[in-house]
Amino acid sequence: MPSTCTRLDRFLIEKVRLKNKDVRLLLAQKRILLDGRHANGMNQTINKFTKIQIDENIIQNNKPCYIKLHKPKGVVSATKDANHKTVVDLLAPNEPTDLHIAGRLDFNSTGLILLTNDGQWSRKLSAPESNIEKRYSVTIDKPITQDVIDAFSRGIYFAFENTTTLPATLTMHDEYTAEVILKEGKYHQIKRMFGHFQIEVLTLHRFAIGSIVLDSHLAEGESRHLNPEEVSRAFS
Ligand code: URA
Repeated sequence: MPSTCTRLDRFLIEKVRLKNKDVRLLLAQKRILLDGRHANGMNQTINKFTKIQIDENIIQNNKPCYIKLHKPKGVVSATKDANHKTVVDLLAPNEPTDLHIAGRLDFNSTGLILLTNDGQWSRKLSAPESNIEKRYSVTIDKPITQDVIDAFSRGIYFAFENTTTLPATLTMHDEYTAEVILKEGKYHQIKRMFGHFQIEVLTLHRFAIGSIVLDSHLAEGESRHLNPEEVSRAFS
């Protein structure tokens, strides 16, 4: 899954500070290699994960990285925080430094967090148009009525953003536990949707994003790399 594309000449001029005429000369001399093959034109497209060499010199060699992590309560979904442990602090020290989070969870929420350095993949995963289902288990402080279930499926108006949530599925397991399926991720969305009915969310746990599921053997705080099949099937 490639990241955002850019033109080879633009990359070499802007990032490597070569002059346009130097790029032309290097191309004519067949000295630029893209993923091991001779580059064939100024406007050839590359992305963040294209290996770029000029002669023996490696100019860019980023490896895509996709990680699933079981977020515990009391950890911030951020890459840096002055006061609290972040999800990135839970990763092994040798992971890439350019990771970002694909879909945050609140401080007290638990469950599946995805981290990647592939911006195109994470944007697609989070975009409402992709229709990717995010599945949550919640416990709440009051039993709910059918009206609440119906309101979730119609959408609930959020005055602050002046927008109505996309249809969401609320399935009760018993009086105080439910599963919620969202296709978007607004700030504190589930808490605010229940809050609309003066219902408090006591615990909130995300167990799936699309086809990527939190493994039962991944303990809180643990993480692992997604396998290539999980990465490519994320949208199916
Ligand atoms: N909705 C919330 O309110 N909190 C989360 O962490 C995720 C969804």
